[in-house]
Amino acid sequence: MKLAVLKERRPGEARVAATPETVKKLKGLGLEIALETGAGAGARFSDSEYETAGAVIAPDAASALRDADIVFKVRGPEPDEIAGMKNGAVYVSLLAPYSERPTIEQLAAHGVTAFAMEFIPRISRAQSMDVLSSQANLAGYKAVIDAAATFGRAFPMMMTAAGTIAPARAFIMGVGVAGLQAIATARRLGAIVSATDVRPATKEQVESLGATFVAVIDDEFKQAETAAGYAKPMSPEYQAKQAALVAEHIKKQDIVITTALIPGRKAPVLVTEEMMATMKPGSVIVDLAAEQGGNCPLTRADEVVEAHGVTIMGYTNLPSRLAVDSSSLYARNLFNFVALMVDKKAGALALNWDDEIVKGAAVMRDGQIVHPSLKG
Ligand code: NAI
Repeated sequence: MKLAVLKERRPGEARVAATPETVKKLKGLGLEIALETGAGAGARFSDSEYETAGAVIAPDAASALRDADIVFKVRGPEPDEIAGMKNGAVYVSLLAPYSERPTIEQLAAHGVTAFAMEFIPRISRAQSMDVLSSQANLAGYKAVIDAAATFGRAFPMMMTAAGTIAPARAFIMGVGVAGLQAIATARRLGAIVSATDVRPATKEQVESLGATFVAVIDDEFKQAETAAGYAKPMSPEYQAKQAALVAEHIKKQDIVITTALIPGRKAPVLVTEEMMATMKPGSVIVDLAAEQGGNCPLTRADEVVEAHGVTIMGYTNLPSRLAVDSSSLYARNLFNFVALMVDKKAGALALNWDDEIVKGAAVMRDGQIVHPSLKG
């Protein structure tokens, strides 16, 4: 059985879908690994490290793909990569299935079985495969580090012979995986941290990290969580009350990290231009929702812009800027997933279509689109 690992081609994508560590583990499952030359370069893994781990280095994507039963990538495949896959191959990567529909159609036309790592169900047994969590955690950390590097002041309070420096105030909006890590990171750097979310469960999480929770707590708030643990869209009345509270709070903040997302929808606007205009010059906003339209109307995806003296950072791929760690975690997520579908003894693929993880992550089976949200 052969597994191909391809080199990422999108601008700014430095991650890789297997590391020397996971190559060894994949070999342990009885797989032969063909890795496209230079695939690990962005994450500082050399071809020779992969060779030592047991991979065969292929000179290009086409030769890595030849006869491969399983294909690993970080981001969706290019047309020539799809063309190089054998009929019936199993393809695994992030696929952004809603925004990159043409890629899904091309994969289907080629008769492959494709899994989108975004669709791994968020159940306990699948936590070790949860790429949304592994990558969002690093994004939350990097957002604070980026903000600190741009901010013209220090984060911690410093008492020096020349006088005292006041601590920075950081406000985290949206307390999912990224937001929680942003709170912890800003606290470690010595900022005074506050946070908001619409899900009631987050209040205790925020407080347990030593930050202050800022939200309108009414009956609607107490029910604002879906069974899957995600945020619900809030009513215009709630949004207005919450916006008034946030507007008062934000005036005093130096750093704002926004991470608010609602699955399958455009990101909610949380920081209006009027609110921004009340912030002190030199303040920094990092908008982690930039790819879904942003939590600030002035955010520009993949750009750093300045308005009203406030810097807004709209990087859409923060994990790639920590490519060594994000690749290591992503590669382990993929290994744990593929371990579910390989029969080591038989040396063959053994997909259990009754397993809710396999079923949940499947976009298509032998070219037939099977994911309920993508059919029709
Ligand atoms: P996400 O990336 O979908 O959203 C980020 C945060 O934004 C969420 O906390 C959401 O409530 C918040 N948000 C949405 N609209 C908002 C608004 N108008 N104002 C303020 N905040 C707003 O969330 P993520 O990080 O993917 O986590 C979502 C849920 O999934 C959480 O409950 C988390 O505990 C759960 N989870 C479960 C896992 C499992 O394996 N069981 C693993 C990881 C997360």
